[in-house]
Amino acid sequence: MIFLYLILVIEISSGLKVTEHGKISRIAFGSCANQFGITNPDIFYSIINWKPDIYVWLGDIVYADRFSLPMAFSPTNEKIWRSKYNSFKTSIEYQALINSTMITGVYDDHDYGINDGDKNFIYKEIGKKLVLEFLDDGSIRDHGGVYHSFTFEDLKLILLDIRWFRDSKLDKEGDSLGEEQWVWLEKELQTGERVKIIGNGLQVNTFDRNSPAEKWHEKSRLRLWGLLDKYPGVLLLTGDVHYGELLRIPCSKHIVYEITSSGLTHSVFTTFNMIGWYFVNLWQPFNFNIGKKFLYKNFGTIEIDWETQLIHVSVRDTFSVPQIEYTININELYETNPDIKFCQENFKALKYKHILGTFFIILLPFWINFLAILIFLRKYSNSY
Ligand SMILES: *[C@@H]1O[C@H](CO)[C@@H](O)[C@H](O)[C@H]1NC(C)=O
Repeated sequence: MIFLYLILVIEISSGLKVTEHGKISRIAFGSCANQFGITNPDIFYSIINWKPDIYVWLGDIVYADRFSLPMAFSPTNEKIWRSKYNSFKTSIEYQALINSTMITGVYDDHDYGINDGDKNFIYKEIGKKLVLEFLDDGSIRDHGGVYHSFTFEDLKLILLDIRWFRDSKLDKEGDSLGEEQWVWLEKELQTGERVKIIGNGLQVNTFDRNSPAEKWHEKSRLRLWGLLDKYPGVLLLTGDVHYGELLRIPCSKHIVYEITSSGLTHSVFTTFNMIGWYFVNLWQPFNFNIGKKFLYKNFGTIEIDWETQLIHVSVRDTFSVPQIEYTININELYETNPDIKFCQENFKALKYKHILGTFFIILLPFWINFLAILIFLRKYSNSY
């Protein structure tokens, strides 16, 4: 029995190191897994079958913070935290993923250790240590936080740390990345690879939304957009929100797309059902979306055809069926954005217009119907 156990332990693979030399053309990515211990092995086999050259985590690999009352949203201890990573890492489906492709990534809040965590989180050193142990990608991140970049010939993958240096989300004047990381990011963008993929957990292009989801600080979003104006050829990858969508920045100098994939094992629809559908599809404006929002479990893919200079992006469901698809010409990322006029829109006004519209078109009739049914039932049940 002990012998058998030893064999099992020995057979657990550790990750392939990320080797930067050589062209790569297939990138898969995802975020938000293992909440409430929920798993979805099928999606990991779908990722494997898509045959990515690299798989990128955009955070919430595990939910290390406590969820249940009365300790909700408080940090857990290192032992439990590590055991959450370990039980996922040793699962057959994740071992199979490890065996099949290079893996890298960054944490977001729940694997950093605390919901909506920022620079003040006291156990952030543990969060960093455990995520790097889990990823085991051969990178050395000997600075504050886990930001890092990898270069694959004409493609650079830049991973941002949106937690370590982050000011409190309540600080309206706050900064999301910290000066040290900003300086590093600009240097990374200066090296001039044709395609630059910037990944982090938090959505960037959703400042028009009245959503409870965390955002980049306004000042930092504008500073990032300033950098993207200077250094074209960028795709943004984000996660966090438990659904997938494709967005286009409306008023940048060059076209910038943002692909969000979130919810590998649980999603807005699987958690909240129609209420989630209602909230995301009707309550939130669609100003910058290309195609629909996909509210089920999903992962993202990016396929670059270096010959034709086309990038095919998609958000795929558990069984690898593309639910959002789009083809981008790399040249397009270097041209002047034709949408620049849209910038003149007053986004705040749009937001309130959207809320009002939703209220009168959807909510009000719904409640009137609901009340009518109640009154009807009351009236006729009384007559028995
Ligand atoms: C992963 O690779 C190791 C070493 O080759 C092997 O022993 C193990 O069975 C593989 N695991 C899976 C799930 O494919």
